[in-house]
Amino acid sequence: MKDKIYIFDTTLRDGEQVPGCQLSTPEKVEIAKQLELLGVDIIEAGFPISSPMDFNSVVQISKAVKEPTICALTRAVERDIEVAAEALKYTKRPRIHTGIGASDYHIKYKFNSTRDKIIERGVAAVKYAKKFVEDIEFYCEDSGRAENEYLARMVEAVIAAGATVVNIPDTTGYCTPESYGEKIRYLMENVKGVHKAILSCHCHNDLGLATANTLAGIRNGARQVEVTINGIGERAGNTSLEEIAMIIKTHKHLNFETQLDTRRIYPLSLLVSKMMRMPVQPNKAIIGRNAFAHSSGIHQDGVLKYRENYEIMAPEDVGVPQNSIVLTARSGKAALSYHLERLGYGKLEKPQLEKIYQKFLDLADSKKDLSDDDLIVLMEGKLSESKIELNHLQVLCGDPVRPIATISVEVNGEQFEATADGNGPVNASLRAIDKIIGKGIFLEEYLVQAMANGSKDTGKVHMQVKYQEQLYYGFGVDEDIVMASVKAYLNACNKMPLAIKRKVEVLS
Ligand code: KIV
Ligand code: ZN
Repeated sequence: MKDKIYIFDTTLRDGEQVPGCQLSTPEKVEIAKQLELLGVDIIEAGFPISSPMDFNSVVQISKAVKEPTICALTRAVERDIEVAAEALKYTKRPRIHTGIGASDYHIKYKFNSTRDKIIERGVAAVKYAKKFVEDIEFYCEDSGRAENEYLARMVEAVIAAGATVVNIPDTTGYCTPESYGEKIRYLMENVKGVHKAILSCHCHNDLGLATANTLAGIRNGARQVEVTINGIGERAGNTSLEEIAMIIKTHKHLNFETQLDTRRIYPLSLLVSKMMRMPVQPNKAIIGRNAFAHSSGIHQDGVLKYRENYEIMAPEDVGVPQNSIVLTARSGKAALSYHLERLGYGKLEKPQLEKIYQKFLDLADSKKDLSDDDLIVLMEGKLSESKIELNHLQVLCGDPVRPIATISVEVNGEQFEATADGNGPVNASLRAIDKIIGKGIFLEEYLVQAMANGSKDTGKVHMQVKYQEQLYYGFGVDEDIVMASVKAYLNACNKMPLAIKRKVEVLS
């Protein structure tokens, strides 16, 4: 018999504390519905006393979602608990998550109190919350830095008061897998009545150890994990749901199970990233763009012969449509042949493949990765020389002026100029470019970052655009962020040889 690990998702509470990534109530409801389909056991929907919007989100999620337990956060304060209970009244399975600091840092410098008094406050909060709902989770904040003996006293007291789950957060991400695992083991062995409640792992990722610590926690007796989609959360984030889910699925010998439908992970990751406007790093485990992309010739050849040569899980298991054999200058003939076959060119004879491969290497040397369009161009023997270069950009904006941009570019040696308006200077500039090279290019992701600090800083723009179902990445740098955006857009467009070539033909 496998041990069930309860999945407590806090994307909508701890995850949403990321600065600048706040979600609207309808967005939270949409994510909650998808979390329900994914099969999480508990959704932490918000901190109702913190704002009317958070209160309303808990209400709306309670109404929209049927299966999972809906949890609301409070401090160990009566008014917080009353407001949380009120927000939870529409759910079938309410849980109040209350708690207080357990480390001496919190006891002395946050509460200016004593260890005994803090336990008394925690116990009183559990007893008060118990008047409203049966299922009470208690968090011993900053457990990671709390002394184990004192922590055990606190856990014992709150379980005796009626807590059904006790959360042992490594609030500051301080622990190592050894120390966190030992902490959980210590509690399992020294707390009287520990089996009347479930211990829960809530780890932050400040040292990049959140997943390892959570794993150590369940291996030592905890049975609930507090996680977020994409690992988002305060500072370096929380334990990521997808990592824990796939560790449990991949390492069957651990004898754990969850009720997650892991095939829903990737679509939900995309949804959260898009709604929170937080791009996922390409090499992020499980859900990053490169997580199943093989680019070196040796790996590609190996994967094509037998997937498990280089993959420990199937991309379909996490909802990624297929592993991507990316074509770069390091790709071999096996990968090229695979893609040409996929594009309908059949299995090429060795000499023909060799010829195309040489052309492919020349092209790959000048580009980061090659698209289907590039391969078609190679096969059709008309390698496009398309290149759009910026001549000048002039933008007029301000208040109440509607932004307007005039852009002049050179495409394959020919001059083009266009003017367009837009709802901002960047939008106006990109629309002007679209007038020249054609419509059908959609901005999928846009990220501006400062390279250093100060008003004379340089801005970096990363962008992903979609054209004919294919994603193109663009990058631009400039002291002016409108210019950096235009450069990134043109950088992406220059990777679409067919699109530009066709448009030039139309224009000339
Ligand atoms: O990290 C933490 O300690 C928390 C608690 C409020 C549960 O998020
Ligand atoms: Zn937290």
